[in-house]
Amino acid sequence: MKISVIGNGYVGLATAVGLAGNGHQVVCIDNDPAKVDLINRGRSPIYEKGLEDCVSSCVGNGTLKASKDYKDVADTDITFICVGTYSPSCNGTDFTQIKSAARGVGGVLSKKKGYHVIAVKSTVAPGTTEKVIIPTLEKASGKKAGKGFGVVVNPEFLEEGKSVDCVRNPYRIIIGEYDKRSGEAVESLYRDFPVPIVRTTIAAAEMIKYASNAFLAAKISFINEIGNICKKLGIDVYDVAGAMGYDPRIGRRFLNAGAGFGGSCLPKDIEELVDTAGRAGYEAGILRAILDMNREQPQRLAEMAESAVGDLQGKTVAVLGLSFKPGTDDVRDAPSLKVIASLLEKGASVRAYDPVAVDNARMVLPKSVKFCASAAQAVKGADCVIVVTEWDEFKVESLYNGKVVIDGRRVLDPRRAGKFCDYHGICW
Ligand code: UGA
Repeated sequence: MKISVIGNGYVGLATAVGLAGNGHQVVCIDNDPAKVDLINRGRSPIYEKGLEDCVSSCVGNGTLKASKDYKDVADTDITFICVGTYSPSCNGTDFTQIKSAARGVGGVLSKKKGYHVIAVKSTVAPGTTEKVIIPTLEKASGKKAGKGFGVVVNPEFLEEGKSVDCVRNPYRIIIGEYDKRSGEAVESLYRDFPVPIVRTTIAAAEMIKYASNAFLAAKISFINEIGNICKKLGIDVYDVAGAMGYDPRIGRRFLNAGAGFGGSCLPKDIEELVDTAGRAGYEAGILRAILDMNREQPQRLAEMAESAVGDLQGKTVAVLGLSFKPGTDDVRDAPSLKVIASLLEKGASVRAYDPVAVDNARMVLPKSVKFCASAAQAVKGADCVIVVTEWDEFKVESLYNGKVVIDGRRVLDPRRAGKFCDYHGICW
């Protein structure tokens, strides 16, 4: 099939190479000429494991190309909308890009003969496709949804850092369809995947995505709360999580207690779900508690540093890890930002290091933060070291010899760490 993909971030590009890799003809559309140029030269505009190799081979064999021009949508059968819905300026969801993509696609559809399917992959709250996206498409195209064009919501469940793998090996495919014909068309793209394909309504598909992210976040905040209690009682929460995880009703994944969750998805999606519930007249107490817990958890690292070395005024603290998780340069809503804000407020000088996220962090952190070229350089001479992201290179014990270490991600084995450093685990 011929496919166009609007937006070339993590979701768009991973989706595009996944489809191109399955033999479809894909054009990536993005309004950033630099991104378009890079893709057409076989390069990936974002850091994501394995993505550049895929872009390079798909561009090389002619199944993938990029374009700035929405006109290229006309030659395709299905358009995936994969633009971002995160906005740091409004600290949450922002529909500017979604609306502009819908207007762009709608404009092309006004002149196109024949049926066209729009598949919304961007994460949007329940109701958004029917209240915002479809009306925008209808206005711009002068056509009616279900007649002139079809619409499905086909949420993505990609984990940043593993996007390519997630596209190739999804757990399930969700297709929320406005009309049966477009549901069939999108299902045909996924027929070879040995996973459940769920056909449902548009709003239910939107909710499945939000509920899934909320549940993952709930697991994290839950185990962080258990971990905070364990810390007080002298129990290792990792022993507890490991044993809980043997129960398949619970499962071990997403029970890693630590500095809390960040990124462009979990925090924003839960905020949005709380707001959606509120607008519908329901106070989502559990969801709020997940967020409250997550706001407080990073502060605990700064407080632990204070307890370990005394007043932080004038002290130097090394912060290891800035990205919201390893394997990505993304610092959006990263716990590191909250830890650093708290340290600066307490008067500490902060020396920060991350293997790939320094450039992104520099754009959002105060000028007073000093960025180091290596973990060893950040640690040298620091009064205290706080580990916020579990990059492999932070698991090297010799890095911490003789230091006060606050471990927010279990990078060291607490049973050994006391031998070579003054070790404090956040929840253990
Ligand atoms: C998340 C979901 O996991 C994906 O399924 C979803 O598709 C994606 O959001 C999205 O909505 O696009 P992502 O934001 O890439 O993916 O990150 P996660 O791997 O979920 O990690 C989120 C945060 O939780 C990270 O800061 C991580 O360090 C933290 N985390 C994760 C924990 O603190 N403990 C855990 O056990 C697991």
